[in-house]
Amino acid sequence: MLDLFSGEAPWSEPLAEGAQVLRRYALAQADALLAEIENIAALNPFYHRITPGGHRMSVAMTNCGDFGWSTNARGYQYSREDEESGSRWPPMPALFRSLAVAAAKEAGFSGFNPDACLINRYEPGAKLTLHQDKDEKDLRQPIVSVSLGLPAIFQFGGFERDAATQRILLEHGDVVVWGGPSRLRYHGILPLKAGIHPQCGAFRYNLTFRRAF
Ligand code: SIN
Ligand code: FE2
Repeated sequence: MLDLFSGEAPWSEPLAEGAQVLRRYALAQADALLAEIENIAALNPFYHRITPGGHRMSVAMTNCGDFGWSTNARGYQYSREDEESGSRWPPMPALFRSLAVAAAKEAGFSGFNPDACLINRYEPGAKLTLHQDKDEKDLRQPIVSVSLGLPAIFQFGGFERDAATQRILLEHGDVVVWGGPSRLRYHGILPLKAGIHPQCGAFRYNLTFRRAF
C-alpha cells in the first residue's frame, strides 16, 4: 500500500494561529520518555487529585521540574513540593527539556524555557473537561503537550467554554503546541477508549510543558 507519509515524519498540521500539531514529533524518543516517566513515578507516584469542587479527577497525575501543578480543596496551584509525599518534584530530565524546547521552536516559539512538566496518566474512561491553562504567570510562553500510548480525542476550542471545538485524534508521539494568540484557548480530552498499546498497555500518558513563573 502506498504510504503517503513514509520518510516524511514528523509533519505539521495547523489548528489555529499560534497552534499546531507536530505529528510523531516525539516518536523517536518515545521509549526513552516512557523510561523517564517510570523513574519519576517511582519517586512521586501518580495519584488522583480532588478538585476544589470535591471531585476526584479521573486522570492520575505527577510532575517533574522546578514546579508541579496540582489541585486540592484550596484551588489550583504550582508548588515545589508534592503535597502527597512532602518531597520536591524530581528534576526535569534533559531529554524532556530538549524535546519541549525544540518542539516549541519548530512551532515558531523560540526561547521557550519550561519550569514545569505535568505528567497525566489516562485509563479507559478518563477525561479532562474543557479548560484553559491560565495558572501560569507568563502567558507569552507556549504550552507544549506530548502524547504517548493509547490514542485520545483532543478538543481544541475558542476563548469561551461553549465555543465550537475542533476534535483531533492524538496518537503516540504526537506533539501539540499552542501559544501566542491561541494561548488561552479552551481544550480538553474526551473519555479515553479502552485498548492495549504495545509500549503503554492500557494507558495514555501526556506530558504538558509550561513556564509557570
Ligand atoms: C492538559 O490539558 O493538561 C492535557 C491535555 C492532554 O492530555 O492531551
Ligand atoms: Fe490544559
